[in-house]
Amino acid sequence: MSVTPAEFRKALGCFATGVTVITVDHEGEVHGMTANAFTSVSLDPMLVLVCVDHRARTHAHLHARKRFGVNVLAENQRAISEYYALASQTHQDAEREAGAQFDRTAHGTPVLHGALAYLECRLRTAEDAGDHTIFIAEVEDVVVREGDPLLFFRGKYRAIGAAADSSSPALPSNSTIERHNLARPKR
Ligand SMILES: Cc1cc2nc3c(=O)[nH]c(=O)nc-3n(C[C@H](O)[C@H](O)[C@H](O)COP(=O)(O)O)c2cc1C
Repeated sequence: MSVTPAEFRKALGCFATGVTVITVDHEGEVHGMTANAFTSVSLDPMLVLVCVDHRARTHAHLHARKRFGVNVLAENQRAISEYYALASQTHQDAEREAGAQFDRTAHGTPVLHGALAYLECRLRTAEDAGDHTIFIAEVEDVVVREGDPLLFFRGKYRAIGAAADSSSPALPSNSTIERHNLARPKR
């Protein structure tokens, strides 16, 4: 294999994303998981996907419940992202440790207070892909709020900066481009 896992992660880290918390009801309790492998799939029907590691507790919960929420985090919700990225996290400590509070939708799905957007999702298909599963779901309801997003780029949380300016060059002349494997001869 010519690309190492570290190079793969580094390359993917260049793709700036928002941050979501996937919420699912698990036997009456709120279960949450921080995820940025989330994207839109189709407009008609309205489909989204999230990729979940086979080892995550959320993986089994999504299969069992077949319904989940996607909460797009606001800039001031970094502590919530950090909390729900912990394998040991429990609902009991979420409010005290990260300030996370929830309501329930009519379907019983937990909705995080203060998120920029909420999508109520009904599972359509689950496709294994390597060590993750791609969960594709139909969006049944959305809530959108004003505000700025929490971002994730090169392994760090970020805030949105100045708006991109169409008059600036796409690549400044002094920028450094790291190359991995692109010009490496095949063995
Ligand atoms: C910014 C960020 C994004 C993440 N994105 C994902 C993701 O898309 N899919 C995934 O399976 N894990 C992702 N993780 C890791 C999970 O949040 C982490 O493994 C969590 O402990 C799983 O929780 P669970 O076992 O309660 O489901 C991400 C972590 C961080 C910090």
